[in-house]
Amino acid sequence: MAKPLRIGMIGYGFMGRAHSNGYKRVSDFFDLEYTPVLQAVAARDPAKAKEFADRWGYGRVESDWQKLVAAPDIDAIDICTPNNLHAEIAIEAAKHGKAILCEKPLSMDTSEGERMVAAIEKAGVPNMVWYNYRRIPAVTFAKQIIDSGQLGRIFHYRANFLQDWTISADLPQGGAGLWRLDAKAAGSGVTGDLLAHCIDTAIWLNGSVTDVTAMTETFVKERQHQLTGQREPVTIDDACSFLCHFQNGSLGLFESTRYARGHKALYTFEINGENMSLKWDLHDLHRLQVFDYKDAGNMRGWKSIHVTDGDHPYMDKWWVPGLAIGYEHSFVHQVADFLEAYAKKQPAHPTFRDALETQRVCDAVLLSGKSHQWVNV
Ligand SMILES: NC(=O)c1ccc[n+]([C@@H]2O[C@H](COP(=O)([O-])OP(=O)(O)OC[C@H]3O[C@@H](n4cnc5c(N)ncnc54)[C@H](O)[C@@H]3O)[C@@H](O)[C@H]2O)c1
Repeated sequence: MAKPLRIGMIGYGFMGRAHSNGYKRVSDFFDLEYTPVLQAVAARDPAKAKEFADRWGYGRVESDWQKLVAAPDIDAIDICTPNNLHAEIAIEAAKHGKAILCEKPLSMDTSEGERMVAAIEKAGVPNMVWYNYRRIPAVTFAKQIIDSGQLGRIFHYRANFLQDWTISADLPQGGAGLWRLDAKAAGSGVTGDLLAHCIDTAIWLNGSVTDVTAMTETFVKERQHQLTGQREPVTIDDACSFLCHFQNGSLGLFESTRYARGHKALYTFEINGENMSLKWDLHDLHRLQVFDYKDAGNMRGWKSIHVTDGDHPYMDKWWVPGLAIGYEHSFVHQVADFLEAYAKKQPAHPTFRDALETQRVCDAVLLSGKSHQWVNV
């Protein structure tokens, strides 16, 4: 019989649903010492929180998150709120000795992230940040191939995260559903929201970033604020492109925008080594494209590996070879990895400290976007 890990969730939006699905499914597919128990959810609107709790099977609803982080029947706090609440909740949860699973980006900026890392390390609590793309089997497989050394010397890393949902100048900013456009709630625009994912994956696959030079733009300068009803300046970055050096000597090229008409969530990355290149695309997430220079000259070309076989990462836990899984499974995998690390009292990556490195790159990118200078990370 698995031991319970009693989850207290804060925020019941997009990520609240994605994580709840992960908690509910993990023990059906993975053999683990601990099993998540959906103990309670905290949110400001009791009726909506109750509806969420009933739908997903949470035991009870708390009216505010302060009560939840102090509750003795909660082992782990899951932070699924907008970015401006991550630090306050995490620091308070650490004081109460709770394990903490926090959504990305870790914090509003590096100094806030440093305070979070200091608090959780002082309290010695298990912690993890939901950079879930690491747990898509094709991405994890890319990591295994890179770590095996088959690529040889790495020359280039490039990544994009493209969307198109904020093109209309009539779209308001702030409040429910639109907090991402309000710098006071989000910290930054596409840099913290989208590029943070690209940066986390890049650091994981290709090592640390040493310095950056960036270009940021805010295309729509004023939008009505949903909470005040006033037209207010928009202070997030709508688009951001940057160049960087990695510690291993390779060059990086990143682009993110919410103004690429036709793209909903096109996250792609490519890595070019001396012997091999790999590329991946979120719209075709179960495939990894591989070019291997060792192939006979007349047989060289891009191979599309369907990452669904029993010897591919995580896939032995699911169906039979050849059957694809999807986006939501990355959260199931992340829960499984967290529970395994929790049982062994080992760090679950990316830890808060890992995510702080991504935050430092984000801050350097935003600073460079303003100063038009190269910035060291
Ligand atoms: N890992 C990923 O791929 C991924 C994807 C989307 C969002 N995120 C991150 O997840 C977090 C939440 O994003 P989302 O898309 O789920 O947002 P959302 O707007 O769908 O949900 C946010 C939730 O927070 C609640 N909330 C706001 N203020 C609160 C307060 N004071 N007390 C309690 N609850 C409060 C809202 O009621 C809502 O339920 C953000 O940090 C975001 O960056 C990560």
